[in-house]
Amino acid sequence: VRGERKRAEHMSDGECISLEEWEAKNVKAVVLGAAGGIGQPLSLLLKTNPAITALGLFDIVNTPGVAADLSHIDTPAVVVGRLPPNDGLKEVLKGADIVVIPAGVPRKPGARDDLFKVNGGIVKDLATGIATTCPKAFVLVISNPVNSTVPIVAEVFKKHGVYDPKRIFGVTTLDVVRASTFVAEIIGKPSAAPDIVVPVVGGHSGVTIVPLLSQSSHPLPSDLASDKFDALVKRIQFGGDEVVKAKDGAGSATLSMAYAGFDFANKIIRALKGEKGIVAPSFVALKADAAGAAELTKELGAELEFFSSNVELGPEGVVKIHPLGKITSAETELVKAAIPELQTNIKTGVTYCLEKL
Ligand code: NAI
Repeated sequence: VRGERKRAEHMSDGECISLEEWEAKNVKAVVLGAAGGIGQPLSLLLKTNPAITALGLFDIVNTPGVAADLSHIDTPAVVVGRLPPNDGLKEVLKGADIVVIPAGVPRKPGARDDLFKVNGGIVKDLATGIATTCPKAFVLVISNPVNSTVPIVAEVFKKHGVYDPKRIFGVTTLDVVRASTFVAEIIGKPSAAPDIVVPVVGGHSGVTIVPLLSQSSHPLPSDLASDKFDALVKRIQFGGDEVVKAKDGAGSATLSMAYAGFDFANKIIRALKGEKGIVAPSFVALKADAAGAAELTKELGAELEFFSSNVELGPEGVVKIHPLGKITSAETELVKAAIPELQTNIKTGVTYCLEKL
């Protein structure tokens, strides 16, 4: 029964491999920043995934307590929590298949990109730990600003001679999750939300977030007023502000982000274990797929080192970066508006590393 449940949970919408093959592949997942607002619920969710056999938690505070608490849950993952110093980071990272990074400070009301100074340094140091301990692990970057922190991870890996663009991902899934939820609200069917798929491309902040509503699996009403349409786009782009404001200075999205991070991590784990045909938007280096990049660059009419598009995942990471496909003229304008901002954000991350490494 447990095996069948496992198969149902993890192999539901892709090609099946045998259960024996599936079980033979152990997965070690690591969360860096595991004691934080995102880190704790994300670690809890990862502990519920029976495909994960080892769960490593690292933070500068509280990880022994979080690990002890999670270790009482009757799922397979053996949980270990470590703090700095004494090689805590390396101990946790050893043998990792997938490393998720929600370490850093969240933004406060009104503040946006000044997170970079603090989070850039945190991500650089953690990336150095990964590059020197488990360079083959898939790295999932949640720490903001993602448009700049992902280039930082790439630069650190280059510096250590272990860069594989197919294995580094910026987590943009919260934008995708919000798009499904908000579209379900507009079409008046909240129960449809889990099935609604809206590709969200570009990057992961403000105007760089470009929802391709014309490609929604569930079309919007054809008589939707243009002001309502514009408001929906804006809500997807700036959805984080609603949470920051409602939390009134106490942080940004944590629970919905943990859900989104878990969703993307599960897709990576399924791909790692051999399931085929898994596609999800993620902010990746275009170098990860030269043919896909050429097509996308033609569509964008601009050179970008990183971009979020639908990405097909496999056991070695990125298999294919999908083009945008057919989009409306309004969406073309949104993409155009995103490009200069993305170029600046990416340059910020790369320049930071050139100065610090
Ligand atoms: P938080 O402050 O609640 O937690 C961050 C954790 O990181 C803390 O436990 C802190 O001790 C830890 N930390 C700080 N420096 C560290 C280091 N050097 N090594 C390991 N751990 C370290 O913040 P929250 O709300 O969990 O947000 C975390 C990050 O995620 C922020 O950068 C935030 O902007 C970002 N975020 C990203 C989203 C996305 O869609 N990609 C959505 C929401 C937030």
